[in-house]
This record gives sequence, structure tokens and C-alpha cells, in this order.
Amino acid sequence: MRACHIQYVLLLSLLGFFPRSGTLTCHKGIMMKLGSGFSKTAVEWKSFESKKGEPKEICQETLLLIDVGNKSLLLGSKGSSNPGEKKTKNIQLFSRGPGIVAASYVHFCDTELCNNANSTSVLLDPLSLADSPELGTTQCPVCLQFQGFCSHNSNFVFCPKGTHCYTSDLTLQGGELNTTFSIDGCLLSPDKFLLKKQTSIGIFSAVELSVLQNVDSLSHILIPSTLLTWMLGLRPLLSPSFTEICPLS
Ligand SMILES: *[C@@H]1O[C@H](CO)[C@@H](O)[C@H](O)[C@H]1NC(C)=O
Ligand SMILES: *[C@@H]1O[C@H](CO)[C@@H](O)[C@H](O)[C@H]1NC(C)=O
Ligand SMILES: *[C@@H]1O[C@H](CO)[C@@H](O)[C@H](O)[C@H]1NC(C)=O
Repeated sequence: MRACHIQYVLLLSLLGFFPRSGTLTCHKGIMMKLGSGFSKTAVEWKSFESKKGEPKEICQETLLLIDVGNKSLLLGSKGSSNPGEKKTKNIQLFSRGPGIVAASYVHFCDTELCNNANSTSVLLDPLSLADSPELGTTQCPVCLQFQGFCSHNSNFVFCPKGTHCYTSDLTLQGGELNTTFSIDGCLLSPDKFLLKKQTSIGIFSAVELSVLQNVDSLSHILIPSTLLTWMLGLRPLLSPSFTEICPLS
């Protein structure tokens, strides 16, 4: 029992959970912009609302940028978040190009109105993206649209050297957003997944349904990244040493 208790304390502190009283006011709002040039030029990212969270909740702001060439997408959310989140500020560059660019800015904090970034420059300024690429001979469709609006046989472009065709449906949920985008473009080889099988980005949970194109047979295999993560990631938890269940008290 004692060992059990210690495990719990360790687990909770690893998760960044420290009891705190009172409620925090956080900026609140979502942003969804489909346009072009968002990986080059910063745009305003403001909330026009603020809201008191539940006791012990902290504030968050999450921004995801995807750029496929002449089209780009910004998804942002500001608001309260559950208290289990660790205080962090974190920029991730999933793909720096050439070809598709994907990057995120995530900030969890615990002071009044601390989720106060007001421009996408918080993400763009620290990024170093690939220079204008030398084109290769591979041609791929390029598209970034709400799910169902990409026709995979139009808009072919010559891809940068060292990239291959990539096609996926990407679903992002959480922070008051729930949306799916279809993405076609040129992705740096040998990457198969744009988000590197990551299943959460700040407040968003992400499901990337990537179509692996088998050039020989022209067959398409759908692989949801969450399934892979489940198979690869949860296995250790199912091993005998983790089967003991500790009561929460
Ligand atoms: C944007 O936020 C920064 C710091 O978060 C602040 O210094 C700056 O004045 C803000 N700019 C505007 C236009 O509100
Ligand atoms: C983007 O590129 C495609 C292929 O080159 C072209 O057909 C399309 O018109 C471009 N879109 C914009 C908005 O420039
Ligand atoms: C998100 O949207 C899908 C499709 O509209 C729906 O099936 C699903 O239940 C929604 N999820 C949440 C958490 O709202």
C-alpha cells in the first residue's frame, strides 16, 4: 500500500498536478484561418473575451500552423485548461520544409490572463524554416481544405528535391474546436506522418489519417496514428508490473 501511495504522488507530480485554490481568469477564444502566407507573415491572434475557470484550472493558448505551399492554415485556441497540465511554453517544429511546414506553439500558465500572446509572431519568430527549394522531378497534388474539398487529381506541382507525396485527413479536437482538414502536398522523405504520430498538441487532440501511397501497386493503406501509438505506447502499461491497481485515497 505504501509503495502504491508513493507511486501516486510521483505520478501526480510528473503530471504537474499541484493543488491550488481559487479560480483564474483566462483569455478565451478560437481562431481558424485558411489563407496563404501564414508561415511567412505574422497575423493578429487576440481573444475578445475572458472567462473565469473552474477551481484549480489553469490558462492555455495553443496555436497550430500548417503550410502546404501557396495555402496555409492557422488553428488557435485560448481558454482554461484542466489542472493536470504542466506549466510550459513550448514550440514544436514538426516539419520545417521544404514542402509542407507544420509547427505549434503551446503555453500553459497559472497567473491571471497569462495566455496573452497577441500575434502569431510568438510561433513564427523562433522558427527557422527551409529556404526556397530546388525542385525535383516528382509531381504531387497540393491542397489544404476542409475535409472532402480536396480533389486528389488536380493542382499537381513539382515537389522540392528530397520530398514525396503526402495525403492525409487531420482531425483536431479540443479547446472548443472540432474540425477535420484534408492535406495534400510534398513531405520531406522519409516521413510518413506530418505530426510524427503525436496525438496531442496543447489543448488539441490530433488524429492524422495518413494515406501511404504504395507506388508499385497503387494501393492505399490507411493508418491512423493513434492506433499505432496505442500499439506501441500502451503495451508497456499492460505488462504484469503495471497490473496492480492502486485505490485513489
Ligand atoms: C502584445 O503582447 C506583448 C506581450 O505579451 C505586449 O508587450 C504588447 O504590448 C502587445 N501588443 C499589443 C498591440 O497589444
Ligand atoms: C496554388 O497552386 C496551384 C498549383 O500551382 C494553383 O493551381 C492554384 O491556383 C494556386 N492557388 C493560389 C491561391 O495561388
Ligand atoms: C466532433 O465532430 C464529429 C463530426 O461532426 C462528431 O462525430 C464528434 O462527436 C465531435 N466530437 C466532439 C468531442 O464534439
